[in-house]
Amino acid sequence: MRELALHVLDILRNTVDAGATHVTLIIEEDSARDRLTITVSDDGRGMTPETAAQVTNPFFTTRTTRHVGLGLPLLAAAAERAAGDLRIASTPGQGTTVEATFQLAHPDRQPLGDLPGTLLAFLLAEGAPQLRYEHRVMRGPAASRTFRFDTAAIRAELGDVPLNHPAVVQWLAEFLAEGEAELS
Ligand SMILES: Nc1ncnc2c1ncn2[C@@H]1O[C@H](COP(=O)(O)OP(=O)(O)O)[C@@H](O)[C@H]1O
Ligand SMILES: [Mg+2]
Repeated sequence: MRELALHVLDILRNTVDAGATHVTLIIEEDSARDRLTITVSDDGRGMTPETAAQVTNPFFTTRTTRHVGLGLPLLAAAAERAAGDLRIASTPGQGTTVEATFQLAHPDRQPLGDLPGTLLAFLLAEGAPQLRYEHRVMRGPAASRTFRFDTAAIRAELGDVPLNHPAVVQWLAEFLAEGEAELS
């Protein structure tokens, strides 16, 4: 079974291909509504309505480098297997929002998997945009936890030290792992 984190990495990579400079990833687990929602928004080049209508078809791609074109169809299939769906809202020249929903407790809902690893891989990639991340876990009105971070704040803190400095990578890996662990 594939982890949702790997799908998320694919969708995040699309934002880089789209030339995005700012990306937001929000993961919300809502037990009361039995809903898991994953939203990726970017300020990249966007899609025409014609492209947006086709991108959940397997093997549709506008990339000319590799012939894959499975990122969005695989996430759509994963959502549909878990009584959810995938929605795309996009405006050419402004950006794109991809939202996947799942029934949280559905037996075929894939596990979130290694989110810290996914986030780290994305943040350290060449040309990575700024990322604002929020992971909310709602287990009832009085039991809600959120882990969030913003690379803009981290970069400001680091000054001239690059994100891929070994000491920073080590710190980031621990920071992400602890933040996620505290949610469960
Ligand atoms: N965030 C995005 N912004 C603009 N276009 C996108 C975005 N995500 C996907 N697309 C478009 O949808 C197509 C299919 O995406 P995907 O299924 O991930 O396959 P691939 O990335 O291999 O082409 C891309 O080639 C691109 O044209
Ligand atoms: Mg892709």
